[in-house]
Amino acid sequence: MFFRRKRPLSDLFTEKFVDIHSHLLPGLDDGAKTLEHSIELIHELKKIGINKFITTPHIMSEVYPNTPKLINQKLQTVQQAMLDKQLGDVQLKAAAEYMLDEQFTARIQKKELLTIDSAMVLVELSYLNPPINLNELLFELQLAGYTPLLAHPERYIFWHKQTAVFENLKNAGCKFQLNILSLTKHYGDSVFKTASYLLKNNMIDFVGTDVHHKHHIQLLHQKVDKKLFDLMLPVVERNSSLLS
Ligand SMILES: [Fe+2]
Repeated sequence: MFFRRKRPLSDLFTEKFVDIHSHLLPGLDDGAKTLEHSIELIHELKKIGINKFITTPHIMSEVYPNTPKLINQKLQTVQQAMLDKQLGDVQLKAAAEYMLDEQFTARIQKKELLTIDSAMVLVELSYLNPPINLNELLFELQLAGYTPLLAHPERYIFWHKQTAVFENLKNAGCKFQLNILSLTKHYGDSVFKTASYLLKNNMIDFVGTDVHHKHHIQLLHQKVDKKLFDLMLPVVERNSSLLS
């Protein structure tokens, strides 16, 4: 009988792994609601083997009008609480997940974008349709010295039947961050297929959990095909280079 081994996603998390996409700061977006909730999520993530985070609250016009100042204040509050809760060995930093909306150009011009490393900016798009000026925005961002890192390209359903768009984006200097749960059926079959396509074609640069709540963490125990698991190994390795 044909037999393929499967591996749990959580086996990907080495000691050096850095999760670069999550919503762990309290009361800023649709992620952690309270400080207690933040601590609980970090604790649960540590239990599945993640010890390093660059967490990324949404920054989205009227919906989540977060500023670097507010994000850094919340970060300090959580870091302080972590010391009291025996989480002092966990590394937590913050950046943001920027919606490419009508205020994004103004944010670029201010030159105070929160970055993942020295230059990478995590950006997301509306799930309904891409901005008509997407290429201009990506160009402006790079002109200002930043590198766009597109969050979960596999989740934009409007591109599922036009994979050439992904190549165009990569050629335009955009890097891709896969959501690790896209390798399960959590976001649906079509997202899974696109995630597999991008991974098999070596188009994924980095990975993130995009954890908003405890259920997402439980799902990280799910097993995936060993072939997909193995394709993730170099991606996970790249993540590890983002925090020393
Ligand atoms: Fe996110």
